[in-house]
Amino acid sequence: MNKPVEVLPDQSALVARALELILSKLETAIREQGRFTIALSGGSTPKPLYEAIATQKLPWDRIHVFWGDERYVPPDHPDSNELMARRAWLDKVNIPATNIHSVPTLEAEPAVSAAKYEQHLQEFFNSSSGEFPALDVILLGMGDDAHTASLFPHTEALKVRDRLTTVGNKDGNPRITFTYPFINSASTVIFVVAGANKRPALAQVFAPVADDFTYPSRLIQPQGELWWLLDAAAGLELKP
Ligand code: 6PG
Repeated sequence: MNKPVEVLPDQSALVARALELILSKLETAIREQGRFTIALSGGSTPKPLYEAIATQKLPWDRIHVFWGDERYVPPDHPDSNELMARRAWLDKVNIPATNIHSVPTLEAEPAVSAAKYEQHLQEFFNSSSGEFPALDVILLGMGDDAHTASLFPHTEALKVRDRLTTVGNKDGNPRITFTYPFINSASTVIFVVAGANKRPALAQVFAPVADDFTYPSRLIQPQGELWWLLDAAAGLELKP
């Protein structure tokens, strides 16, 4: 499974490289399409990256932000991926509120939220059901269990192939997540992974043979570009 892997010496180099790659995709997208669409990941790794993006002078009215997954909590909840991104980046720049495409997490049922987010994505990209529109960039993290977005090992979400979004399940807690086929439709997918605790999962994701449902990040094989940006702690044993 060939994946461009870049191992950066430390977290600040990892952030700088990820920023450089995102900015290059952003400039191309705005030049060619007049807009840039990006889906963010949650967790702790991307926070310094979001802080770095916030320092850039960018055409914010051309930039549209989505989330590849979200915890099923209100947007002001401490676990909210949106709250983290707003505090680190979005509340610091002059991006139009309508360019921030929140996951609706206040519905009675997670499945209703997933369906509403899918409908919003289809309306934004003017795509019909069954089509998988291509975001310019989808940013992903990876857990030490090799999950990505909220596609956790051996969960029903891994079986959903005909929708853009579905309900993920982390230890019984619902999440809203992009499906892996939708992630794979992106023009560019960028994993940003740091920490020695991710090494065992990375070894399985990069192994020639391993079970995709046990190591869901293996399912991410976009037709477009796939980048793995790792810090040295995470990428130590990887032979790219
Ligand atoms: C989330 C993320 C999740 C995250 C990984 C890695 O909602 O938590 O989207 O997929 O990227 O769990 O998290 P860390 O960066 O905190 O290790």
